[in-house]
Amino acid sequence: MTHSSKLSPLEASRGSPLTGRVRVPGDKSISHRALILGALAVGETRIQGLLESEDVLNTAKAMRALGAQVLRDGDGTWSVQGVGVAGFAQPEAPLDFGNSGTGCRLVMGAVAGCPITATFDGDASLRSRPMRRIVDPLALMGAKVTAQSEGGRLPLTLQGARDPLPIEYRSPVASAQIKSAVLLAGLAAPGITTVIEPAASRDHTELMLRHFGAEIVSVPDGADGRKISLTGQPELHGAPVAVPADPSSAAFPIVAALIVPESDVTFDDVMTNPLRTGLFTTLREMGASIEETHARGDTGEPMAQLRVRASKLRGVEVPAARAPSMIDEYLVLAVAAAFAEGTTTMRGLHELRVKESDRLEATAAMLRVNGVKVGIEGDDMIVEGRGHVPGGGVVATHMDHRIAMSALVMGCASDRPVRVDDTTFIATSFPDFIPMMQRLGAVFA
Ligand code: S3P
Repeated sequence: MTHSSKLSPLEASRGSPLTGRVRVPGDKSISHRALILGALAVGETRIQGLLESEDVLNTAKAMRALGAQVLRDGDGTWSVQGVGVAGFAQPEAPLDFGNSGTGCRLVMGAVAGCPITATFDGDASLRSRPMRRIVDPLALMGAKVTAQSEGGRLPLTLQGARDPLPIEYRSPVASAQIKSAVLLAGLAAPGITTVIEPAASRDHTELMLRHFGAEIVSVPDGADGRKISLTGQPELHGAPVAVPADPSSAAFPIVAALIVPESDVTFDDVMTNPLRTGLFTTLREMGASIEETHARGDTGEPMAQLRVRASKLRGVEVPAARAPSMIDEYLVLAVAAAFAEGTTTMRGLHELRVKESDRLEATAAMLRVNGVKVGIEGDDMIVEGRGHVPGGGVVATHMDHRIAMSALVMGCASDRPVRVDDTTFIATSFPDFIPMMQRLGAVFA
């Protein structure tokens, strides 16, 4: 998506309690992977509950450009007819991933194992994000970057390997995007491709690869790390995928329900994969009432119903080791921390600097402009909670959906309204966010 100069500002004000029962849209990570693995499999993959957001729709377009057939049925089911491992066709035009680091980086991995050349591009936010962390390991496997922008950024042209090599790659960062890119390239390599990560990142790629018929083994490595080994050149078979509700999207109305007095909201089918639930653990430590029932895992990923009631929160210390399991949730956690009594210290947040925006700076700015005291010390963020937030600020969203949603959540309970300069990017992950929040009782104007 190009960022038009037309901004859509919005203001959130304090209103009555939030109440109701909702299912937030499908998980973004799983939606990208279902399309990509469906495209690399032989036969049909039917996907229920795919997240129909701009990020995911860009991945769907890329899969079509690479030769897969991707269709949406009238009932909202998506079907993908894949081309088989290493079967991608050369795309005729650059692949535009809009705002999506995940779509772009995972597809880079898949392309790296095919004898084709593709150009990757995105919006101004994605063009500013680091890509060497992805293309460096892919180069070890035989892929070549034939054109790139300064600092190894997009637009970038990648020539896939004719005969990809299996590697053992020790990733310097606990990143599911790096791990997934190497594993997707490894599908086309003979022998075992191994990724060692310093701490466990989300394992949706591993789970879904297994579901599609690949042989993949994951074992602990050191105190927090994992070693993941994939046997190359499997025959992947199209398989049904039911996408659970996205815990990273649910995070916004969940925090809103906690901070707006007397709220009581129930969330259906929220994915509860332990590598994604660091926010829920932290909120519970802060005193949040989050009741989990109806746990099930029949569709490959665990999920549950969550009942969230307004709660008095207290400041806590969030250990760095928890970061991979809540990497996208620190923005909205910082909002919860501002409404808590006492100090919340969040440690080890360096990866926040390379997300859709520099989220460490943008989160601190969002809080400060609304009268909250916040400090950044190295990689740590310290929020001084006072039990209430003065509000009254205008928040700069920096093309970042999660900044926009976090600021609007803050405005639901702050003393004075909170305004965001632009809500356009919410459509990248949670197109229904504004009407869904309004249905629960939020006052947005
Ligand atoms: C994602 C991984 C995370 C996360 C992103 C989605 C994924 O990035 O921030 O929103 O689906 O693999 P890193 O693993 O690179 O930290």
